[in-house]
Parts: sequence; structure tokens; C-alpha cells
Amino acid sequence: MASIVLNNVDKIYAGGVKAVNGLNLEIKDGEFMVLVGPSGCGKSTALRMIAGLEDISGGEIVIGDRVVNHLPPKDRDIAMVFQNYALYPHMTVEENLAFGLKLRKMSKPEIQKRVNDAARMLGLEQYLKRKPAALSGGQRQRVAMGRAIVREPQAFLMDEPLSNLDAKLRVSMRASLNQLHERLGVTTVYVTHDQVEAMTLGDRVCVLRDGVLQQVDTPQNLFDSPVNLFVAGFMGSPAMNFTYAELVRDNGGAAVAFAGYRLPVPDSTFAEKPGLDRYIGRKIILGIRPSDFEDAGSASGNSAGWVRVPVRANVTEELGSEINVLFTIDAPPVEHKDTVAAAHDGDDEETTLPLTGDKSLWTARVNARSHVRPGQELELVVDTHNLHFFDVDSGLSIGHEANIGR
Ligand SMILES: Nc1ncnc2c1ncn2[C@@H]1O[C@H](COP(=O)(O)OP(=O)(O)OP(=O)(O)O)[C@@H](O)[C@H]1O
Ligand SMILES: [Mg+2]
Repeated sequence: MASIVLNNVDKIYAGGVKAVNGLNLEIKDGEFMVLVGPSGCGKSTALRMIAGLEDISGGEIVIGDRVVNHLPPKDRDIAMVFQNYALYPHMTVEENLAFGLKLRKMSKPEIQKRVNDAARMLGLEQYLKRKPAALSGGQRQRVAMGRAIVREPQAFLMDEPLSNLDAKLRVSMRASLNQLHERLGVTTVYVTHDQVEAMTLGDRVCVLRDGVLQQVDTPQNLFDSPVNLFVAGFMGSPAMNFTYAELVRDNGGAAVAFAGYRLPVPDSTFAEKPGLDRYIGRKIILGIRPSDFEDAGSASGNSAGWVRVPVRANVTEELGSEINVLFTIDAPPVEHKDTVAAAHDGDDEETTLPLTGDKSLWTARVNARSHVRPGQELELVVDTHNLHFFDVDSGLSIGHEANIGR
């Protein structure tokens, strides 16, 4: 096992595309690091540079205590798992698992032991004599993982390994991957464009955009305190709601005003977000996560900081335990380049409503006890402790520690 460090790594492809731009990233020994971002942001390029499948144009990559810039892939002691499993079709599962070890001239008993261990770990024991064509997609992906595991490498590098599987299988493979990582503790770099996968798998998650690192942190911290509009809009599903708003302070205290609503801003928020008070009297971009709403009728207790927001439900999406309530507010949609970039990805089927230019579509995620129906008037409550504020010009999160002094 080993740490992986990227120092100011660049990749410029022939033709001048800067796919990765000054990337600094430290992946700790044993850590599960996820690289996430929209299509074309440079995730695969970054991973392939770590693997040695792609030359680096600038900077330095260190695996363990070796600078590997000029080391060929086979000498880097890493194992890669791809989206297309790339199994040998004419070989049985057992032969597929053993193949790489045979090439390395490992002894037969050692090969047998490693193959059996991996097969047991992955629940592949009963399939060892089958060929890939006789396996399901999930089973094939397990074999592909098995081939990486038997090598006992210093690190696993995985590029969207689950994206060919159907949704249900993806969830169960995600759980298996988590268990596997618990068990083996091997440093893993995992690429996905799926932010849910990123959140559930990563010890930490690195968000990339156009080859530039936006933020790297634990899933919870990315969710709770995104550094800018892009990360705020990209992480979390349904996506964060945005609107232009004005921050005001009068006899009633501080509040944020938008679309005819006025939400008080708690004092604690000003304490947590240094510099926010300088925006009083100015326009900001306000962000509210769908999960920070609740139906006033089914909200448990009346917690301090919850404020009522009457809306009219346009569309309701019933998810069993929760309901997504889509409603419009009387404010033009935020058209910041960062919110647009974040929204243009992900495979969530966005519900599209015909909107006139002066209304924005928002989502509230409420408890299924709500029984709200489309067309109904509804009182939502919103947790004002979790409001997010962004600078209109820079798109940076106001009061985020990474942005203070910028
Ligand atoms: N061999 C290449 N030559 C030139 N440009 C390339 C090459 N490979 C990738 N690119 C460009 O580099 C950028 C990053 O590509 P990359 O494959 O790393 O993105 P990605 O984040 O993995 O995207 P996806 O989610 O679609 O897999 C893109 O703009 C892509 O068009
Ligand atoms: Mg890719």
C-alpha cells in the first residue's frame, strides 16, 4: 500500500486541450479517493496519468516514496479496473484471475491461493469454471475486480467500473466495494461522474471542473459547505435550489429577501460565515437544499430556525419514503456560468416544466406523510440554519474558510 501524491500536474493533449490543469492532490495511504465531475473534466486523464497510461505534461506524481513520472505502468505496482471489464472471453473465470500472475511467473500454489481468496471474497467460487459469456454483467465486473485484487497491488485505480451495470446492481456492487475496501484497506482512486456514487464510496471526494480542482473534502463537508456555486450545484440530488436575493438588516434583524419571501438569517450564520455581514444591503445568490425543506404539516415538532414558506406544488415525485415537490418561485432563474455547468450533467431525469423567464423551478424534499398532490397549496418550512450564500460575480461561497481573504 502507498500514498499517491500529485504535485502541480498538467496534461496538455496534442492539439492543445488542457485536460488537467495544475492538479495538486494527496491521497493518503489506504484512502478511498473519488474523482468526480462532469463529462470531459479530466477525471480519466488524471487517473491514466497515475497509472502511467498517459504521459504527464508538467508536474510530478509520487506513488509511495517514488517519483513515477517516467516509470512504465507495469513497474508502478498498481491495478486498474475499467468500465468495460476487458476479460479474456476464451478463458474461464479462474484462468482470467490467474492470467496476470502467471505472466509474472508466480508459483502455482501461490496463484491458486490468491485466486481462491479473491473468489471467496467476491462470491465467485461457484463460477470459477465458467467463461465470461456465461456470466451476468455484475459477475463479470466482480471478475474484473478479482483480477486487480489477486495482484495485491499498492493501489487500485478504477475508472467508472460500475457504469455498465443497471441501477440496482450498481447499488449492491457499491456496497461490495465498500466492504472490500474495509477489508483490504488498499489505497484506491475511483473515477465517476455520478455524484451519488462519489458520496457513498469516498473517504474523500475531489471535484474537478475543466481540469481544475474545485474542492476536495469528505462527502459530508462537500455537501454542507461547498466552496462555490459549481460544487454546490453538482453535489447533492435533487440539486440545490438557487435564486438571486437581497441580504437585509432592519429592526426585525437580518434576513434574506427573494420572490416575495423573507427568511430570517440567524446570528449564528454570521458567526459561521465571516464576511457575510459585508453583503448586507447587497445582492447575493442564495442556495437552499431540497432536503432543508419540510412540509409544515408533517414536520416533527417546531424546531427553532424553521420558517414557513407557502408554495403551490406543480409536480410531485413520490419516492416511497419521500416526496419531491416541485414548485415555482417568482424570481428569474440564476444564470451564472457555474450553476449552468453543474446542472448540465448527471443522468437524473430532470422534470421539465414550461417556464417563463421570470420564474424559477425549485424542489423541496418532504416526508411521504405529507400526501401533497400536484396543484395543491402547501406550507413548507425551511431550516434557516442551512442557507448557503454565494457572491454574485465570483460564484464563491461567502464565508467559506477557503475563500476568506480572496
Ligand atoms: N487522446 C486525447 N487527445 C486529445 N484530447 C483528449 C484525449 N483524451 C481526452 N481528451 C480531452 O481531454 C478532456 C478530458 O477528457 P477525460 O477523458 O479525462 O474526461 P472525463 O472527465 O474522464 O470525462 P467522462 O466523464 O466523459 O469520461 C476532454 O476535453 C477530452 O476531449
Ligand atoms: Mg472518463
